[in-house]
Amino acid sequence: MTNVLILGANGSIARFAIDLFLKETDAQLTLYLRNSGRLKNVNSSRVRIIEGDVLDIEKLKEAMVGQDVVYANLAGQLEQMAKNVVEAMNASDVNRLIWISSMGIYGEVPGERYSSILNPYRNSAAIVEGSDLDYTILRPGWFTNNDEIDYEITQKGEPFKGHDVSRKSVAYLVVKLAITPGMEIRRSLGVSKPE
Ligand SMILES: NC(=O)c1ccc[n+]([C@@H]2O[C@H](COP(=O)([O-])OP(=O)(O)OC[C@H]3O[C@@H](n4cnc5c(N)ncnc54)[C@H](OP(=O)(O)O)[C@@H]3O)[C@@H](O)[C@H]2O)c1
Repeated sequence: MTNVLILGANGSIARFAIDLFLKETDAQLTLYLRNSGRLKNVNSSRVRIIEGDVLDIEKLKEAMVGQDVVYANLAGQLEQMAKNVVEAMNASDVNRLIWISSMGIYGEVPGERYSSILNPYRNSAAIVEGSDLDYTILRPGWFTNNDEIDYEITQKGEPFKGHDVSRKSVAYLVVKLAITPGMEIRRSLGVSKPE
């Protein structure tokens, strides 16, 4: 049984992932979010809720205790969040991190140049990559609400393929990574729907 801490648990991908974790796995979930009143349909004996801010390092450290996997589904001050997540995981000896980023952070999307708008994504990914953690960074394409699981992966150093990907596909990959020991460790994966 895997203990999974979900940071930013009311995020659009996280909500799909929580649903999949509860339906398809026996994982125990800790949902960490700023406003628990926003959560819907998560009544399960396998769910614990912590109201907290990822910028609150002490609260974050408390949430790390006993976790096997951290899944960060965050937006906003991503650099400081990445620093806090790495510090809190190191403090609790939690090693496995799944970090949601964005396509384009390495200039890997053919024909597209994403400038400063992606800096928080770039810089936070660099912090994760500079850690000793067993991380997997996901760089999804534009999200769709299509009810499908259909994606392909590109590795760092390869050109990104495609453009869009369903939220459900990204969530499916998160769950697979979380429950499969050793899968795509210390990798940064482009994720998109095959064209
Ligand atoms: N939209 C796209 O097509 C696309 C494509 C590729 C990548 N992305 C990126 O992928 C990431 C995940 O996407 P998503 O749609 O799931 O994001 P989302 O719905 O915006 O969720 C991000 C979550 O981060 C939480 N958060 C922000 N600051 C926080 C803090 N200080 N402490 C705790 N939680 C905090 C927010 O919580 P609150 O509910 O409290 O605000 C929110 O629930 C985002 O960074 C997004 O920009 C998006």
